[in-house]
Parts: sequence; C-alpha cells; structure tokens
Amino acid sequence: MTYTLIHTIHIFSVFIYGGFLFTDNLFMVKMKQTLNEEEDIKARESIMIHVRKVVPYSLMVAVVSGLYLFWSVFGEISKDGLSSFQIMLSIKAILGLWLGMRGINQKFFGIQPWIFKSHFFPFSLIIVIIMLSQFMYL
Ligand code: HEM
Repeated sequence: MTYTLIHTIHIFSVFIYGGFLFTDNLFMVKMKQTLNEEEDIKARESIMIHVRKVVPYSLMVAVVSGLYLFWSVFGEISKDGLSSFQIMLSIKAILGLWLGMRGINQKFFGIQPWIFKSHFFPFSLIIVIIMLSQFMYL
C-alpha cells in the first residue's frame, strides 16, 4: 500500500513538473510570435508568478518520492553485476537528482545554473527520464 501511494505521488509530482516544462517549451515560447517584447514579458510573468509557487516543490516531491521508490525496487546486485533494469534506473535517478539539485539551488539558494540556463535542458531531460522509466522494464 505504501509503495503504491508513493508511486502515485511520484507520478502526480512529475506530471506537474514535466507538464510545466512541456507547456513552456511547446507553447509559451511561441507567444513571441504574436506579442511584442513588452507584452511577451508581461504575459509570461503573469504565468510564472504562479508557476514559482508550485513547480519547484513538485520537483522536490518527485525527487524524494523517487528516492523511496528507488530503494524499494533497485534490488540486489548479482555477482554478474548490474542488470539492465538497475543500469537504466540508475541513469534515470542521476538525471532526476541533477534536476532536483538545480531546482533546490535556484529556489532556496538563488544559485542559477552555470550551464544549460534555459528551460529547454530540463525539458529534454524529462523526455529522456520518461523514456527510461518505461524501457527499464524491457
Ligand atoms: C525529476 C524528475 C523525474 C521524473 C520526470 C520521473 C518520472 C518517472 C516516471 C514517468 C515514472 C514511471 C511511472 C510508471 O510508469 O508507473 C517513474 C518511475 C520511477 N521513478 Fe521517477 N522521475 C523523476 C525522478 C526520479 C528520481 C530522482 C528517482 C530516484 C532517485 C526516481 C525513481 C523512480 C523509480 C524507482 C520508478 C519506478 C517505480 C515503479 O515502476 O514502480 N525518479 N519516474
């Protein structure tokens, strides 16, 4: 029961975090095509003031719930070494933890990313993470 509950929380939190990144990278960036620069900045900020209240925290919930899931499903490492499931899950966890650290640095310490400053980078990582989360069971 606990596992299913945490797994559900994990899915909801990544829906919110990933959902914002899809909306930003697929739609909000297009506002420039129909708005002038001043209008674009104003329209974007009118959305971002609400995003900042929710999305960074959903990322942190995704990371914490993910860590619990990881310890629950990773399993023993056999004498033959890591299985393909363990390798892909580890890559997924490292990419998720990287996003988590970026988010925590930005939100709580005001440390902006040194590289890949735009939202396109986390967007591309989310796509890789979702792919890994499905292919790791093959
Ligand atoms: C922050 C970005 C993250 C995203 C977008 C993400 C996304 C996902 C998705 C889409 C699933 C598949 C859900 C399903 O098919 O049922 C999943 C499952 C999982 N995630 Fe994450 N995740 C993230 C971070 C993490 C982190 C940081 C960890 C571990 C440290 C983690 C560990 C897991 C585990 C173990 C599962 C498998 C659960 C299962 O299938 O029972 N995730 N994640």
